Amino acid sequence: MKFFADTADTADIADLAATGLLDGVTTNPSLIAKSGRDFIEVTREICGLVDGPVSAEVVALDHAGMMREAEILRKIASNVCIKVPLTLDGLKTCKALTGEGTMVNVTLCFSANQALLAAKAGATFVSPFVGRHDDNGYDGMELISDIRLIYDNYAFETQILVASVRHVMHVYEAAKIGADVMTAPPAVIRALVKHVLTDKGIEGFMADWAKTGQSIG
Ligand code: G3P
Repeated sequence: MKFFADTADTADIADLAATGLLDGVTTNPSLIAKSGRDFIEVTREICGLVDGPVSAEVVALDHAGMMREAEILRKIASNVCIKVPLTLDGLKTCKALTGEGTMVNVTLCFSANQALLAAKAGATFVSPFVGRHDDNGYDGMELISDIRLIYDNYAFETQILVASVRHVMHVYEAAKIGADVMTAPPAVIRALVKHVLTDKGIEGFMADWAKTGQSIG
């Protein structure tokens, strides 16, 4: 499973990239607004911090406008992945861009039928928002299972990018289902390593080691 960081905070991205565990980054207009930075400038910086795909989202709602914005965004770096909303215009844009060899992430997916359309449009990634689905009384993970089943039925190559991840259990469940990618806030990625028995074990080993009076090297 690939791990993407869902943030436009470059300090966080650099810190996570240094672990070697980060495979890409996703941003959206809300995360860009939160960063308080210029969209193009911050996207360029992020593209230099990771080798993998960096999703940058168009804000036009019509096909022609999306194509115009994508043209600007994809020039930023070779690892830019254009993010489009799951609308007919977004799908049309997806088809055109992937046909030209540009990576596309189709976002704001809330149904298996929408995901089917994204795959038919040749999307590189489809982003089902599990947290927001849960928030609205649906089962986000059931959506991931359904999409996995449908994509496997037809051997679609579109990667399932689990988004709107809110906690470590979302990651665990998505990995069990076989989602290709998950994107999560840096805090959730860091929380994956935590276990009380790991901390307690280290504490015990350190206490016993101190009693030996030895040092390594
Ligand atoms: O990956 C999509 C994400 O940025 C949305 O997350 O928590 O606002 O639903 P959230």
